[in-house]
Amino acid sequence: MSKVIGIVQVKGGAVRSTVATNLAAMLSREASTALVDCDMPQGTSMSWYALRQAQNPDDDLALATADGYKQLVDQVQRLNQSKDYIVLDAPPRIAEVTRAILMLSDLLIIPLGASAAEVWATTDLLETIEEAKKKRQQIDYRIMWNRYRAYTKSAVELSAAVHDEIDAPELASRFGHRVAFSDALACGKSADEWHDPSAKAEVDALGREVMEILS
Ligand SMILES: Nc1ncnc2c1ncn2[C@@H]1O[C@H](COP(=O)(O)OP(=O)(O)OP(=O)(O)O)[C@@H](O)[C@H]1O
Ligand SMILES: [Mg+2]
Repeated sequence: MSKVIGIVQVKGGAVRSTVATNLAAMLSREASTALVDCDMPQGTSMSWYALRQAQNPDDDLALATADGYKQLVDQVQRLNQSKDYIVLDAPPRIAEVTRAILMLSDLLIIPLGASAAEVWATTDLLETIEEAKKKRQQIDYRIMWNRYRAYTKSAVELSAAVHDEIDAPELASRFGHRVAFSDALACGKSADEWHDPSAKAEVDALGREVMEILS
């Protein structure tokens, strides 16, 4: 049986695809892994994967797409037979497919950047998760700090405010604000295949933490 990891956030540009592609690439080096792009027709993960395949057709990572919750359920059932990990890249809204991701995932990762808009979006998402718990009690979700600038006053203040406002467990792993993440995404790479040791360490730490949680 696969372990399913849903990357969800309801605001656009909240780095879902960055987390999904990096995590999927890292996990695929450790175990059999599929990435499912559920944000169709935009398909950031799908485009990233096409670039990746063009450079390395023997890459171990598999890709599927799901346009709507029925396709998602079918894809997860199909991949469940053969994959250790399935990573789901969600759309930026609370849609049927997003609710299906809440139901199917063994772990939800909620990327959160240091901006008020992302905090508000997260509050909405956590309400939706609470609602979903009426149907499925065990939903394991973790906030993951992204584009984190530990040295800026606004980020430090905002993360303190978030701890007051949002009562949710957090991953220890974070992605800092690094060009490596945007450059690697644009080239079909994960940031740990890029020439930035800090980004590489962050991707590695995320993969290890996720494997540990799901073990
Ligand atoms: N840690 C980071 N440091 C710097 N830039 C980043 C980081 N993470 C993501 N980005 C950039 O931020 C932008 C948005 O990221 P991404 O596409 O992952 O978000 P998304 O939530 O999937 O967006 P969409 O709503 O378009 O699906 C991209 O250009 C990406 O390269
Ligand atoms: Mg995306």
